[in-house]
Amino acid sequence: MLPSTAQLKQTGGRELKRIVFDEETIAERVQALGREITAAYPDGDLLVLGLLKGSFIFLSDLVRRIDRPLQVDFLVASSYGEGTVSSGKVRLVYDPETELAGKHILLVEDIIDTGKTLNKLVGLLRQRRPRSLEICALLHKHVADHLELEAKFVGLDAPTLFLVGYGLDHAENFRHLPYIASLT
Ligand code: IMP
Ligand code: MG
Repeated sequence: MLPSTAQLKQTGGRELKRIVFDEETIAERVQALGREITAAYPDGDLLVLGLLKGSFIFLSDLVRRIDRPLQVDFLVASSYGEGTVSSGKVRLVYDPETELAGKHILLVEDIIDTGKTLNKLVGLLRQRRPRSLEICALLHKHVADHLELEAKFVGLDAPTLFLVGYGLDHAENFRHLPYIASLT
């Protein structure tokens, strides 16, 4: 169910247009991704590295569907500011303190749009000499010109609309919605 008009007045005047992926669809895909990831890492240390803030809900649901030992840490990178178009300037706000060398690193992203954020991060993370580096994205818009590393695990193919909810924001609003919706 979409939020009431009263709730929308508190979200910077932007309104939700329609639900693109409902809770059940998301949950089914997250469960399947968890199985895929479990099977893909039969041995070694796995570090699931969530890209904040957008991946926080996806990551928390995903790790509970991965049935093998793992560690969790976070990175913060920001590229959009208050707009709905990627600025391309990726700012890494902090580095994980966790040791990356020799571990399987699974970088968890909410959505891949231009790919600029990931292209920058993949370079930085490879310098830390992980045993392997892969990307898991909940959503993929398939519009990027060039990806340094294509996502090995993808939840859902996304339409080229601006999406919010389940961690994704517009100017920091709508992250808490349990579904993914498009904006007007
Ligand atoms: P990219 O660098 O253009 O691939 O953008 C990646 C980041 O931009 C994602 O991690 C999101 O935080 C944000 N982003 C991209 N598309 C959307 C969208 O449709 N809604 C909300 N955030 C988005
Ligand atoms: Mg964002």
